[in-house]
Amino acid sequence: MEKMSHPNDFFPATRLRRMRYQAFSRRLMRENRLSTDDLICPLFVIEGHKQQQPVASMPGVYRLSLDLLLKEAEVLLDLGIPAIALFPVIDPQQKSLDASEAFNPDGLAQRSIRALKQAFPELGVITDVALDPFTSHGQDGLLDAQDYVINDETVAVLCRQALSHAEAGADIVAPSDMMDGRIGAIRKTLESNGHINTRILAYSAKYASSFYGPFRDAVGSATNLAGGNKYSYQMDPANSDEALREIALDLQEGADMIMVKPGMPYLDIIRRAKDQFGVPTFAYQVSGEYAMLKAAAQNGWLDERQVVMESLLAFKRAGCDAILTYFAKSAAQWLNS
Ligand code: PBG
Repeated sequence: MEKMSHPNDFFPATRLRRMRYQAFSRRLMRENRLSTDDLICPLFVIEGHKQQQPVASMPGVYRLSLDLLLKEAEVLLDLGIPAIALFPVIDPQQKSLDASEAFNPDGLAQRSIRALKQAFPELGVITDVALDPFTSHGQDGLLDAQDYVINDETVAVLCRQALSHAEAGADIVAPSDMMDGRIGAIRKTLESNGHINTRILAYSAKYASSFYGPFRDAVGSATNLAGGNKYSYQMDPANSDEALREIALDLQEGADMIMVKPGMPYLDIIRRAKDQFGVPTFAYQVSGEYAMLKAAAQNGWLDERQVVMESLLAFKRAGCDAILTYFAKSAAQWLNS
């Protein structure tokens, strides 16, 4: 485009389009960037050997036996992904009312942590601290006679679970249960057992969201939960100030990083959290968000690469330091290509 004369005497004092005119100046003024350093890949592990089960509501996501999980971890590491988040899928017979499998030193999660850290010491391993994969009712904690999730008794079990993960070599424990006071209790447990460098990623602002549906299919807690809900401990999607209170408490209690979950519908919470606290702030682009984008892409309604990269960049713009996403591997491949 060359010189143009004004069609009339008017011209805008500021032309923001000038900087958008060519790729080089768009690049120079770009405020946010996604890199492989920002990505955390969630992985589902199952018992067995050479087992790979597709998750129906999450096309492209598989539950993997440990041998295949290790191969996948190596691929992710080679792509430059710093860390994975591990989710065990427990045999129904091992689920119980007291969730004791959660802190079995030889449980699936604990064995997987040990194998991952032994094979790839430089790959960060994040573990989920919550009881829902281990309870016969699919709730994140222990129940009283009225089926109410009891807080302090649950926290005691979460401490044992977190300690068993740290002992197995977990780098980061991530309580996703939303019990009150659990960060402080877990921090005290870790410190008094010599695990001073085990980091805590607190799912501080975890909402009672319907976007977790495909995840509950993946770990098999959906059928156990059968019509139940998590409204008495996860946050009401209507609230925003309350998220800041949750985060403030978790930081006081010793969290190293905080998390907002779900992701895309809650970018406002991420921004408020980052502005107010300025601490490492993570978000979880959850299973339902993955399913939505994937389904639209598979129908040819959206361009998968474009919308996934745009959604991940939006997390950065909102103030996220890192993002848990089932698109981690694809995004890393696109970033490296
Ligand atoms: C359980 C847990 C959930 C997710 C992560 N940890 C589900 C829930 O709270 O019911 C959801 C992740 C996703 O949807 O991708 N403590």
